[in-house]
Amino acid sequence: PTAKTIKLAKISKNIDERVKVQGWIHRLRVQKGVAFIVLRDGSGYVQCVLSGPLANAYQTQQLTVESTVAIYGTIVKLPEGKSAPGGVELVADYYEVIGLAPGGKDSFTNQVAEDADPSLLLDRRHLTLRGETLSAVMKVRAALLASIRRVYQEEGLCEVTPPCMVQTQVEGGSTLFKMDYYGEEAYLTQSSQLYLETLLPALGDVYCIQESFRAEKSHTRRHLSEYTHIEAELSFLTFEDLLTHIETVITKTIQYVLEDPVAGPLVKQLNPGFVPPQMPFKRMEYAHAIEWLNENGIPNEEGQPFKFGDDIAEAAERKMTDTIGVPILLNRFPVAIKSFYMKKCVDDPLVTESVDVLMPTVGEITGGSMRIDDIDELLAAFKREGLDPAPYYWFVDQRVYGTCPHGGYGLGTERILAWLCNRFTVRDCSLYPRFTGRCKP
Ligand code: 4AD
Ligand code: MG
Repeated sequence: PTAKTIKLAKISKNIDERVKVQGWIHRLRVQKGVAFIVLRDGSGYVQCVLSGPLANAYQTQQLTVESTVAIYGTIVKLPEGKSAPGGVELVADYYEVIGLAPGGKDSFTNQVAEDADPSLLLDRRHLTLRGETLSAVMKVRAALLASIRRVYQEEGLCEVTPPCMVQTQVEGGSTLFKMDYYGEEAYLTQSSQLYLETLLPALGDVYCIQESFRAEKSHTRRHLSEYTHIEAELSFLTFEDLLTHIETVITKTIQYVLEDPVAGPLVKQLNPGFVPPQMPFKRMEYAHAIEWLNENGIPNEEGQPFKFGDDIAEAAERKMTDTIGVPILLNRFPVAIKSFYMKKCVDDPLVTESVDVLMPTVGEITGGSMRIDDIDELLAAFKREGLDPAPYYWFVDQRVYGTCPHGGYGLGTERILAWLCNRFTVRDCSLYPRFTGRCKP
């Protein structure tokens, strides 16, 4: 009888039909008279049952995990209560080996042991990505990017692709990756923000999804050297409008991911306790956060009580966020600890119209602000930071040829995923993570 070739994502739509499926052997159990193969093709899984001569064949005895096979057979619906992917099983009548993977000492198991050496696992990332957890996170990641694009389209933002090779810094000189650009000094971009600002008069509100690069010298759970940066910039809005926009985008995006037929169930599997964010988020001023940290006995980086102007570093920030337990829009950071381009608050020139979004378990997932839109103020900020304004001539021109109030933010894709998928580190949320000392595979 004929068999139509199907992808495993569609397996439960073909009940009682004879089909051909192709993929990698994910799990294998060969016994006398019966063999079970869980087949994986990236789109899904199916359990295949081989019995009688098919199970006893010499070829079947030689099968290994990660070998590729084409299996023919009939899909049967399993009774309620028997658990299998898709609630179905494939009763095989024939199969062919396409590529036999090594067994014995060269065999590869896609099941990661709890005590596996993380560095070895990263060396074998091209293989460990085949495992259930990492591949699930990558599917959620795809849905997250698709969902946020959908939200931006609904909110009327235009997608752009700014350059990655640049000659200006955005977030401080200490984390710049320098490169030789035909004999001139250039950098890998830390943020596309300055370019997005220039596009407001041309394209209206804009966003980009682009790699950003940071030479972060420390090893932390949430810093990568290369990460996927989702950035948006909007014109003619107030700081309050910006806060509302940010919480709307995050809330809607997460809602769409959870509604996605593939990603929704994966998030439930990876993070059964996940609580979708609810609007409005809790708003907290930096000055209040300092008081809160001191009242709760959480010290600053020197082990001292916090004082106004201290950076709230990762550990303290995470403790605060986990204790409070809901999304926080932490706002009005001091000028001294924020980037040069941030607009000062009208009622208090010591603080800026800036915001970080903090989520339980990970802390900061978003950083944003209103931008200085006055040219003299911008030139003064360059001076204060010791930056030569010359390479920024195009950014300064933004304040010359029709300035406007505007603001924006950047979201760290891997940080959102760490929060959404309950991963200990952002390294689990990037295909091939780059961090200090690692640039392979
Ligand atoms: O807070 P950051 O540095 O802000 C900016 O770059 C702004 N210029 C963005 C803008 O306004 N358009 O970075 C924004 C976000 C952070 O909140 C964090 O989620 C993520 O980017 N991020 C990192 N993620 C992984 N590894 C790193 N080293 C990261 N640095 C920042
Ligand atoms: Mg930040």
